[in-house]
Amino acid sequence: MERTFVMIKPDGVQRRLIGKILQRFEEAGLKIVAMKFLKVTQELAEKHYEIHKGKPFYESLIKYITSGPVLAMVIEGQNAIERIRKMVGATDPQKAMPGTIRGDFCQHIGRNIIHASDAKETAEKEINLWFNKDEIIDYKMDDEKWLYE
Ligand code: RTP
Ligand code: MG
Repeated sequence: MERTFVMIKPDGVQRRLIGKILQRFEEAGLKIVAMKFLKVTQELAEKHYEIHKGKPFYESLIKYITSGPVLAMVIEGQNAIERIRKMVGATDPQKAMPGTIRGDFCQHIGRNIIHASDAKETAEKEINLWFNKDEIIDYKMDDEKWLYE
């Protein structure tokens, strides 16, 4: 089992898309193991997007991500990192395939409604940045025997 960090960005919250996005993860058989609704501080935003510091879109990205509350979560499942990146779709919604979250719900790269970790190392780093250990819950779902052989 693998864990990944997912965040519904301020535009996803404002556009009332939380329910529709979570429904996709639940229906895919993925398991939410942590979740919190918060206004991202400047400090957290800068740490989260550290890798993009200095890029032309960096300042507007930080402004965007701190502009309103977000829904942060940790999701677990087999191959969850790659699986969820595929469900999220390409960074630029204009290039995201129909059927993906970005392909179905948004228009512009600067308003692409959702974030998901892109690799094992970033997932671990982001989970630790956004959540304390005691905020992540180990539990069994009753349908697991029907989801995994
Ligand atoms: P994310 O980190 O948010 O999940 O998105 P991603 O991996 O698909 O894309 P990444 O390259 O990490 O970029 C982070 C976020 O920065 C904004 N961006 N704007 N204007 C631009 O050229 C540009 N490029 C990236 C997007 O909001 C992207 O999600
Ligand atoms: Mg990224």
